[in-house]
Amino acid sequence: MLRLSRRNFLKLTGSGAAVGTLSLSPLSHGQQPDVRPTASGNTTLPYPRSKVAKLADLNINEPFYFTYPDDRSPCAVIRREKAIKGGIGPQKSVVAYSTQCTHMGCPVNYDKDAGTFKCPCHYSIFDADNAGQMVIGQATENLPRVVLAYEETEDTLYAISVDGLIYGRQANIL
Ligand code: FES
Repeated sequence: MLRLSRRNFLKLTGSGAAVGTLSLSPLSHGQQPDVRPTASGNTTLPYPRSKVAKLADLNINEPFYFTYPDDRSPCAVIRREKAIKGGIGPQKSVVAYSTQCTHMGCPVNYDKDAGTFKCPCHYSIFDADNAGQMVIGQATENLPRVVLAYEETEDTLYAISVDGLIYGRQANIL
């Protein structure tokens, strides 16, 4: 049976220094530990704030196309005639989405009668009135929703972030 002396054990494990310098000072009753805030561990870059359109320039049920968060990411803003889930603006009726299908990235088309985006490649359908929820088809993820802010004084919509991963990306901000 192999026997190790205390000295050799400490050499092998490298814990001699730790043992030699470790000192604990217990807190007295009621004393708070000295905890200082550390920098947040952000792992993503901030989204830009980007002007999309004036609300008055949007026609009901006609998509207005723009790009966000960069020029390679096509999106559409839709103004419905009624309040819808996640809608913004005075009537809570405006939403925006990436127009790249989450299955394989084909451009989706807006069907104003159904209030859905339809993919011509493998026929996935996404519900624009219900936060881009995938309704049917090959896709397994909802359509990424562009989060909008409405500035009442300017009657203007701004894109401020994206909820969901844009097709083909590891991160929405590259
Ligand atoms: S790319 Fe849209 S369903 Fe396949």
